[in-house]
Amino acid sequence: MAADGNVLDVAALLSAARRAYERSYGGEAQVAVCAPGRVNLIGEHTDYNQGLVLPMALPLVTVMVGSITSGQSCSVETIAESVDEPKRVDFDLPTESSPLTRGKPAWANYVKGVVQHYRGRPLPAFKAVLASSVPLGGGLSSSASLEVAVYTFLQQLCPDDGDEIAKAVACQQAEHTHAGVPCGIMDQFVSVLGKQGHALLIDCRSLEAVPVPLTDPSLVILITNSNVRHSLTGSEYSSRRKQCENAAAILGKSSLRDATMQDLEGSQESLDSVTYRRAEHVIKEIERTAQAAEALKRGAYKEFGKLMVESHNSLRDLYEVSCPELDVLVTAAMELDGVFGSRMTGGGFGGCTVTLLQADATERTIKHIQERYKGHPTFYITTPSEGARVLSLTGN
Ligand code: GLA
Repeated sequence: MAADGNVLDVAALLSAARRAYERSYGGEAQVAVCAPGRVNLIGEHTDYNQGLVLPMALPLVTVMVGSITSGQSCSVETIAESVDEPKRVDFDLPTESSPLTRGKPAWANYVKGVVQHYRGRPLPAFKAVLASSVPLGGGLSSSASLEVAVYTFLQQLCPDDGDEIAKAVACQQAEHTHAGVPCGIMDQFVSVLGKQGHALLIDCRSLEAVPVPLTDPSLVILITNSNVRHSLTGSEYSSRRKQCENAAAILGKSSLRDATMQDLEGSQESLDSVTYRRAEHVIKEIERTAQAAEALKRGAYKEFGKLMVESHNSLRDLYEVSCPELDVLVTAAMELDGVFGSRMTGGGFGGCTVTLLQADATERTIKHIQERYKGHPTFYITTPSEGARVLSLTGN
């Protein structure tokens, strides 16, 4: 729930999407699904280095409702208010000789990308409506939730083999080819496989995940959206990825997951100082993530919180993906008693912080952050939720 008391309810989103469907296409939608956004507790910029991450799925979701239609032409509409492009797109089902390609509006590229990479055949044409409570571009994986919602929707029209890892990978591919972002697997993975009441420790090399319980009622996970997004995001993300691949190659490893600090120190002469710092962040962040998951299992929240702050500082100083707004949010949160840890979450250059704190410290922490932050933050008090799922259309 948002701290301003707004319940971001899946049922409300579903009814809004169903009403829009009836208005636009007539008749009732036959299928409804949703897929969540995520917040990453620790393990940042480690996924594309085959490392460890510890995200959880959010109660914030993208909902997709729709029906099969005859012919080859698909129509999709979004009711997201913050979209300032055309809200409807029409496209033909892809064929071998005419695949779906990137175009405008930008939001539709995620839809087209997933249709293109969908693993079931033969896909029928469809008409659908999208609605989302995941803030767009806020670092909570609005794009992965959209991709996974589309994939889950297509599974209802024409089932694939049900392999959930392959589903996450197909959605990641969609983001690579149709949004042009060379992202790792974390966001799509947790949007597919998230587990209520748990964070997921994902090993991005083996693609195995261990659920870590996170239901202590005395604990709160607070997300603070800085509501800023610096334009560097795209280009800086791919340049970080390249720097890491370059570092791994110099160290003679297939990825930084296989490198140790001794390896890095031993090759210091062969690496420029920027590449060295990037690799140092990744190697230590993977280690921190393993330690944090252990600490969480033991209920050692102080230890967990300390690792969160170390992660933030490393992202700020070594990986250089934070920004002044995120730094202020973290510093403000850490000034209060009852706060265990705080850090930027997601790709960086804006978006959100995640803070772990005692439930009884929530109100004063929010108030203090509001006083200290010059912008207009949005707060979400959140709990680990379930991954993508089909929604019932009866009884509403
Ligand atoms: C974005 C990407 C993820 C991951 C994070 C940083 O959210 O989509 O794959 O790399 O940044 O941890």
